Amino acid sequence: GGKKLWGGRFTGATDPLMDKFNESLPFDRCMWREDIKGSQAYARALAKAGVLTEDESSKIQEGLGEVAKEWESEKFEVKVGDEDIHTANERRLSEIIGKVGGKLHTGRSRNDQVATDTRLWLMQQVQAMRENLADLMRVAVDRAEREVDVLLPGYTHLQPAMTVRWGHWLLSHAAAWQRDDMRLRDLTPRVAMMPLGSGALAGNPFGVDRQALAKDLGFIGGVCPNSMDAVSDRDFVLETLFATATHLTHLSRWAEDLIIYSSGQFKFVQCSDAYATGSSLMPQKKNPDALELIRGKAGRLQGALAGMMAVMKGAPTTYNKDFQEAWQPMFDSVATTQDCTRIATGVLSTLKINPERMLSGLSADMLATDLAEYLVRKGLPFRETHHISGAAVKMAEDRGCQLSDLTPADLKTINDLFEDDVTDVWDFQRSAEMRDTEGGTSKRSVLQQAEKIKKYLADE
Ligand code: ARG
Repeated sequence: GGKKLWGGRFTGATDPLMDKFNESLPFDRCMWREDIKGSQAYARALAKAGVLTEDESSKIQEGLGEVAKEWESEKFEVKVGDEDIHTANERRLSEIIGKVGGKLHTGRSRNDQVATDTRLWLMQQVQAMRENLADLMRVAVDRAEREVDVLLPGYTHLQPAMTVRWGHWLLSHAAAWQRDDMRLRDLTPRVAMMPLGSGALAGNPFGVDRQALAKDLGFIGGVCPNSMDAVSDRDFVLETLFATATHLTHLSRWAEDLIIYSSGQFKFVQCSDAYATGSSLMPQKKNPDALELIRGKAGRLQGALAGMMAVMKGAPTTYNKDFQEAWQPMFDSVATTQDCTRIATGVLSTLKINPERMLSGLSADMLATDLAEYLVRKGLPFRETHHISGAAVKMAEDRGCQLSDLTPADLKTINDLFEDDVTDVWDFQRSAEMRDTEGGTSKRSVLQQAEKIKKYLADE
C-alpha cells in the first residue's frame, strides 16, 4: 500500500489482501460530511486552546472545505492507503494545504473521531427516518378519516372474529408506527453525545473545551462523560438498530395483512400498478412485491441487530477493530428503513380498497358476541350468555343456516329472555358502533384516534 498515517514504526509492507480486509472506506465514505464538519470544529477548538494559531486553524478549515467540495462534486480521488474516511480526508487535506494539515490530529485519535462522525451521521438519519414515519402516519390518518364508514372483518388467529372499521385497522398500524417514532425520538439525546476530546482512550492533553465543541457541533446530549467509555460505546448504534428492526417488524406485519387482503380469496384491497409486478409466465398475475420485499427486508434487519450485538459482546474495554463491522449493518439498516417506510407510504396512499368485498367477508357468526351481550343487557352474567349464544351458533350450524336466520321464536327456545328486538343485533354497523369506549371501533372513537395522532404529529 501507499504511505500510511501510522507507518512510522513499520518497516514491512502490508499484504494487499490485508489492505482490502482492513479498509472501511467503501462503507464509511458516506460520512464524509460529518468527518469534515467534526474536523473543522476540532480545528476551531485547537485554536481556542492555543494549540493552533488562528491562521493555522483557518487554513485547516478552508482546506477541509476544499476537500468537501471534491466529495460534493464527486471529484475526490481515493488513493491506495486511504483506509477509511478519516485517513482519506486527512491525506487530501495535507496535499492541499501542506505541512500544517498535519497539526489537525493533535490530541485526537480516529477512535474519538469515528465515534463522533457516526453519531453526527446518525443524528441526521434518525431525523430523516422520523420525517418518513410522519409521512406514513399522515397517509394512514388521512385514509382512516376519509374511509371511516368502511367496515372490515376483524380477525384473531386469522379466524373471523368481529366487525371493525377499516379506519380502525389503519390506525392500529399507525399506533405502532407512532411508538416507532417515539423510540427514535427518545434515543436521539443518547446518540447526540459527543466523544470528541476523548483521544484514543485516556482523554485530551491540550485542554480543548469539550462543552464548547459539543455546542459547536450540535450535540444536544452533551459530552460523553468518560473517555474510555466514549471510544468503547456503540450502544447508540445498537438501540438505533433495535428501533429500525422493530419498525420494520411493524411494517412487515402490516405488509403481511395487505398480502392476505390482496390475495384472490380475499380481494379486500389491490396494490396499485406502481407497487406490484407481473409474472413472466402467468398473464393474469399481479403480485404484491413491494409488500413482500418489506417483509423480507425486515428479516435482514433483524439479522443486522443480532449481528451487531454479537460483534460487541466480546470486545474488551475501549476501541477494538471489531467495531468497524458495525458499519455495514448500520448503513444497511438505515438505508433500508428509509426505503421501506417510503415505499410503504407509496403503497398505502395508492392502495385501492373494495368495501363491498370487505362487507361480504362479514358473516353473521361474527355477531355471536353481540348476541351474548344482548342478554348481558337483560341482566344475565356474561359467562352464562356466552353459553347461550354458543347454543344458538350450534342451532344455526345444525340447521345449516346463518345465525341471523334464527327467529326470535327460535332463540326463545334456548332462553326466554330473548325478545323480538333481538333482530337489532343482526347489524354489523351497530356492532361496530357499540364499541364506543376510547380506543374502540365506533366511528366517534376512530375519528378521535385520528385526531390524537394528528396532534402528536403537529407537536413533534
Ligand atoms: N475505520 C475505523 C472504524 O471504522 C476507524 C477507527 C480506527 N481506529 C483505529 N485505532 N484503528 O472503526
